[in-house]
Amino acid sequence: MKSSLYVLMFCVMVVCSNCASADNAVKPVDSDPVCTSADNATLTLADNQTLVMYYSKMGTTRIVADEVSRRIPEADIVEIQSDVGIMKAVFWHQLFNRNAAIKPLDIDLSPYTRIILCSPIWLQKISSPARTVINTMPMQGKEMHLLITCGGKFIDGSQEKLKKHVSTRGIEYRSLGVVKTGGKSEEEIRKQTCIQLKSVFATQNTL
Ligand SMILES: Cc1cc2nc3c(=O)[nH]c(=O)nc-3n(C[C@H](O)[C@H](O)[C@H](O)COP(=O)(O)O)c2cc1C
Repeated sequence: MKSSLYVLMFCVMVVCSNCASADNAVKPVDSDPVCTSADNATLTLADNQTLVMYYSKMGTTRIVADEVSRRIPEADIVEIQSDVGIMKAVFWHQLFNRNAAIKPLDIDLSPYTRIILCSPIWLQKISSPARTVINTMPMQGKEMHLLITCGGKFIDGSQEKLKKHVSTRGIEYRSLGVVKTGGKSEEEIRKQTCIQLKSVFATQNTL
C-alpha cells in the first residue's frame, strides 16, 4: 500500500513538472513593494461578511488561507477536514467527480455574503473535500472567490469547468486565482497569495 502511494506520488510529480511550462512560470513578485510577508497591509472590504474556507492535505493551501486571513482580518476562517486517502481520492473521487466525506463543519453560513474557498487541485480538478463543500453546503446566492493551489499548472479548460460547476450550484462565481506551490518557499507562496488578492479586490482595496 505504502509503495503504491509512492508510485502514485511519483506520477503526480511527473505530471506536475510537465505542466510547468514557461508561460506558467510564476512571475517574479519581488518587485511588488506591498506584497512582502513583512508588511502589514490589510484589505478592508465594504462589509464584514467574508468567510475563508480551506482544505489542505500537505500544508501549502493552509499557508494561502493563513495569508488571506492575515490580509483580511475581519474575515472568519474555517478548515475543511477530511481523512480521505490519496488513492481513493485519485481513483474514485477525481476520476468520477465524487464527493469526499468531510468532518461536519460547525458553522452557520447564513451571515456570510462572500466565501473565499482555498483548495489544491488534484488531477486538474478541485480537491474532493472542497468539491463536497461546493456540492453540499447552502451557499446559493453567495459570492465565491476561488484560490487554487497547484504544483505546476491549472489548465484553462479545467479552470473554466470549475467556474461553471460553481455557477451550476447557484453560487455566484466571482474570481479564480491560482497560486503555484511547486518548489516555492512559504514566503513566495504568501507573496503570490497577496498578489492574487490584490488583483481580485482591486476596486475596493486598501492593500
Ligand atoms: C493526488 C494529487 C494530484 C495532483 N494533481 C496536480 C495537477 O494535476 N496539477 C498540478 O499542478 N498540481 C497537482 N498536484 C499538486 C498540488 O495541487 C499542490 O502541491 C498543492 O499545493 C497541494 O496543496 P496542499 O499542500 O494544501 O495539500 C497534485 C497533488 C496531489 C497530491
